[in-house]
Amino acid sequence: MQDFSGKLAVITGGGTGMGRALARQLVAEGCDVAVCDVIEDNLAETLALCRGEAPQGVAITAHRCDVRLEDDIADFRDAVVRDHGRDYINLLFNNAGIAGAGSFVNTPRDRWEQTFDTCWNGVYLMTRLFLPLLMASDEGHVVNTSSVNGFHAALGGSIPHTAYSSAKFAVKGFTEALITDFRYNAAHLKASVVMPGYVGTGITRNTLEITGTDVVAFTDAEIERQKPRWIENGFVSDPNATADEIRALWRDWMSRYEEGGMTSEEAATVILDGVRSEKWRILVGSDAHAFDAAVRAAPEQAYDADFMAHVANQMEEGDVEE
Ligand SMILES: NC(=O)c1ccc[n+]([C@@H]2O[C@H](COP(=O)([O-])OP(=O)(O)OC[C@H]3O[C@@H](n4cnc5c(N)ncnc54)[C@H](O)[C@@H]3O)[C@@H](O)[C@H]2O)c1
Repeated sequence: MQDFSGKLAVITGGGTGMGRALARQLVAEGCDVAVCDVIEDNLAETLALCRGEAPQGVAITAHRCDVRLEDDIADFRDAVVRDHGRDYINLLFNNAGIAGAGSFVNTPRDRWEQTFDTCWNGVYLMTRLFLPLLMASDEGHVVNTSSVNGFHAALGGSIPHTAYSSAKFAVKGFTEALITDFRYNAAHLKASVVMPGYVGTGITRNTLEITGTDVVAFTDAEIERQKPRWIENGFVSDPNATADEIRALWRDWMSRYEEGGMTSEEAATVILDGVRSEKWRILVGSDAHAFDAAVRAAPEQAYDADFMAHVANQMEEGDVEE
């Protein structure tokens, strides 16, 4: 799809971050957009921003929809058809996600499933329920957001990230499988998987708001086990710091997540350029490229303790191909 003008795009998780940036860039290019989210204030802000920026005649709608719930998605789909007056869509961005639920051993089951269901079932159910509308288009593209955790299953190399990684691996596998399925059974459709590295968004804040728990929710025992390493790498300066003080350090670090990495706007541009050039794998950021190359070069070492340091060295030496 070379040109988004006149097309209709559906974006999940459009309240903030990459979803909002995708909506704004698509609208600016003359694409009609329908966004959904579960945080309604953010959704309203995206709607106002897009309406303020939209060229004349471009339609943007916003819908409350929890992508874990099939009934919500069916209502969203029916509202898109009704509000946009079309019986097809051209682009489906399965972007909604939350983080956290790191440990399969320690995280309560309902919290674990909340992350897994958002990041995996959200993509699966949205694609299943919107498929008839994609099939009805002349030209369609499904864009599923995975992560570097879709090919490397630990956060920062040493923090367990089991629910998120399992879901993001599933998203990557599903999208790759769709490529062949579409080629033979729906030749007017394409599929791409997006694998961002570090993008400075409100994901830690939104995850806390939606789930009531921090992205990194360590037990006392985990903190005790990891403390020597955090002292060694300078994250914890006081060897006598208590578990609560270390949790506060993590909370503070997470609250500054938005300040680092690539911006959402830069990430959205990379994603849309990838869709336009029909890339099926869209890596976002030089860290994602470095990570991808390192895992492919030495898969057996990917979970060694010094693997992240090795990736960081490669980035410092500029030894990364994009
Ligand atoms: N920020 C990063 O560093 C990074 C890295 C790799 C992958 N990702 C992925 O990128 C995607 C976008 O995340 P972001 O970083 O822009 O964060 P974000 O928090 O700004 O955006 C995610 C949006 O999804 C919404 N959402 C959460 N649960 C939902 C649900 N059940 N139904 C509908 N909407 C829901 C949130 O409210 C939020 O608006 C996510 O899938 C995330 O996992 C992010």
